[in-house]
Amino acid sequence: MTTGSPDYRDSGLVFPESFLFGSATASYQIEGAAQEDGRRPSIWDTFARTPGKVRNGENGDVADDHYHRWEQDLDLLTELGLGAYRFSIAWPRIQPTGSGAVNQAGLDFYSRLVDGLLTRGITPIVTLYHWDLPQPLEDAGGWPVRETAYRFQEYAGIVGAALGDRVATWTTLNEPWCSAFLGYGSGVHAPGRTEPLGALRAAHHLNLAHGLGIQALRGVVANDPDYSVTLNFTVARGEEEAVRQIDAVANRVFTGPMLRGAYPEDLLADTAPVTDWSFVQDGDLEDISQKLDVLGVNYYNTARVALWDGSGEKQMADNHGESTASPYPGADRVQFLPQPGPYTAMGWNIAPDGMEELLLSLRDQFPEQPLMITENGAAFEDVIEDGRVHDAERVDYLRRHFTAAHRALEQGVDLRGYQVWSLLDNFEWAYGYSKRFGIVHVDYDTLKRTPKDSALWYSELARTRRLPEAGE
Ligand code: FCB
Repeated sequence: MTTGSPDYRDSGLVFPESFLFGSATASYQIEGAAQEDGRRPSIWDTFARTPGKVRNGENGDVADDHYHRWEQDLDLLTELGLGAYRFSIAWPRIQPTGSGAVNQAGLDFYSRLVDGLLTRGITPIVTLYHWDLPQPLEDAGGWPVRETAYRFQEYAGIVGAALGDRVATWTTLNEPWCSAFLGYGSGVHAPGRTEPLGALRAAHHLNLAHGLGIQALRGVVANDPDYSVTLNFTVARGEEEAVRQIDAVANRVFTGPMLRGAYPEDLLADTAPVTDWSFVQDGDLEDISQKLDVLGVNYYNTARVALWDGSGEKQMADNHGESTASPYPGADRVQFLPQPGPYTAMGWNIAPDGMEELLLSLRDQFPEQPLMITENGAAFEDVIEDGRVHDAERVDYLRRHFTAAHRALEQGVDLRGYQVWSLLDNFEWAYGYSKRFGIVHVDYDTLKRTPKDSALWYSELARTRRLPEAGE
């Protein structure tokens, strides 16, 4: 049974010896050097240059300039005493046109990065795809097209052959829900298309890419790594039927094929007005359902849902950006209700109990499946004063969510680690640089890095494995 404070502001809790404390980033959000060493545009370069898509017309051309400052950034990890670093590889650096010719300079960059981590005793957790699809693949149809999954398979094999003697954990995709449903459904993410059928086709081809990618990696790696995927789960609460529909099209559309080898029957029924799913070919589900050593879980907040009766205006307080198109094909009658605070600077409600609930629910659904928090963190309005950032709200957010994770551990959840989003302030997609998620502050004029109070707090947690006392 769990004990502790009802608001999850616990301290003193001790995490297991093997628990992997780390921090996460993603290529397009931090690297910059967008036109360097052979990299060619991804869908995010194109999207960011499309007027009105990204706040203030910002883009990832420079970002945190991590491409040039990576050694300094790895030193930061060492200074903070973190045991793991989750980062992603930019496909357009490896295969600038998305197929064929390999750009050795791109592979060399990540090879140096992995070596740099290993030298410092930090475990590399590599994500192959965190949304930066090479533009030529989108020009050929993007994720709604089956061929894109084959291109990903090829890309996974290339990276696996180059780094597959040194990487501890391979994650195929980050949050395919966002790629499929924000990219092709509501259009608030690149490539900005609003096609319900396209979004469902994209979801399937991302699932297929995941399965083929793992097979490609298995065929070439020389060590015995963990294979993984990272999903962002929607923790929906409220009216039962609305919860069921959202759980189907946001969560089980991925866990079904990946972990059970089948699309959920209710999802197929809900989406029947949009598609008969005939794009799922014989053998696809076998290809998709590869054994996973660890399932990556990204968690930020909860959602409150209800069925809309058609009168009045449908509420869509789902915080996934402004769009009139829905990211939930087949769930057109579901509305998202505003939730009580407190909120982060994203307007996301702070609900550590949702993390505990999610971890327990995943354990119940997939009892044999080890889990890892691959993202959790918060944006706040940080101010830098005399070289310090006193981000007490972020410390409080992290304390509460680490408490939630610990409660899950106490209840027998096989939770292997926790990667805080994010190591650095960075390009927050459609929000540009306006939202700061870093535990390390980045001055976008000078690119100077300054660990915030939350980084120092996290450093103590990572070093001692013990949740610091409030005020410590
Ligand atoms: C997740 C993304 C990550 C970051 C956080 C805030 O959806 O994976 O890149 O933007 O949200």
